[in-house]
Amino acid sequence: MNVINNIRQLRSWSTINKGARCVFVPTMGALHDGHAALIRTAREIAGQNGNVAVSIFVNPLQFGPNEDLAKYPRTLIEDLGLCRDNGADMIFAPKAEDLYPTDRSIVLQETSLSQRLCGASRPGHFDGVCTIVAKLFNLVQCDDAVFGKKDYQQFAIIRRLVRDLDFNVVLHGVETVREADGLAMSSRNRYLSPEERAQAPALRTALLAARDAWKNGERDPAALERLITQTIQDKAPSSRIDYVSAADATTLQPVTATTELVVIAVAVFFGSTRLIDNIELK
Ligand code: PAF
Repeated sequence: MNVINNIRQLRSWSTINKGARCVFVPTMGALHDGHAALIRTAREIAGQNGNVAVSIFVNPLQFGPNEDLAKYPRTLIEDLGLCRDNGADMIFAPKAEDLYPTDRSIVLQETSLSQRLCGASRPGHFDGVCTIVAKLFNLVQCDDAVFGKKDYQQFAIIRRLVRDLDFNVVLHGVETVREADGLAMSSRNRYLSPEERAQAPALRTALLAARDAWKNGERDPAALERLITQTIQDKAPSSRIDYVSAADATTLQPVTATTELVVIAVAVFFGSTRLIDNIELK
């Protein structure tokens, strides 16, 4: 496994590996079993002759002024072990100063899908994500990229980025990996107190209750949102709901008569830790 820290080395790696299918997994490190599943999926797509590239970079551009950039866990040594164990061929772990010149003056802006859900409470976050993902796609020169569907809004926005800016990259979404009690795996779970951790599976319980209601014929987005809100309030009294929102899975706008797939996304604070989860309803 090659570990590359700068753009010059990355370019020579790409030149040497030209012709081999490159499947890319962008991450911010603090890797867990959810990331392991992304890397294993990338390995399957790349096959024996292709390459699996993983980036580990905590992107300052996607953190707001009051968010946890300094506190974001950095566990590079353990991350490299997880990448190796799950079949990665190359790790790109640059420094922020290598990717962002101090006088940089161009960033991408997403103007539709990012306006609701997490984007509403994290202004600029998805512009930062789009900018770094576009830069990484250019640098890594991948054929495919693999993202987790836990960050549903991110995945939908990156699909739009690829479409609108004509990136020649095939995207693959991987289902959320969960703890035994249903809590979606996240680098942020480690910040939960024991009491919060015990209540956090309420997100999944509430989303499953909505799915049951959907299967029983409930189609009113507001009723589904109310059911989820009530379930979370009952089962996780220490939490504070940021949003519960049923949306069109492609546009992330409110559900309409032409919506083919509905997603319900939730974001919930436990103290200062914000957890997200979602469910697709078909
Ligand atoms: O999902 C993440 O870890 C990040 O948002 C990403 C896609 C690596 C961009 O920094």
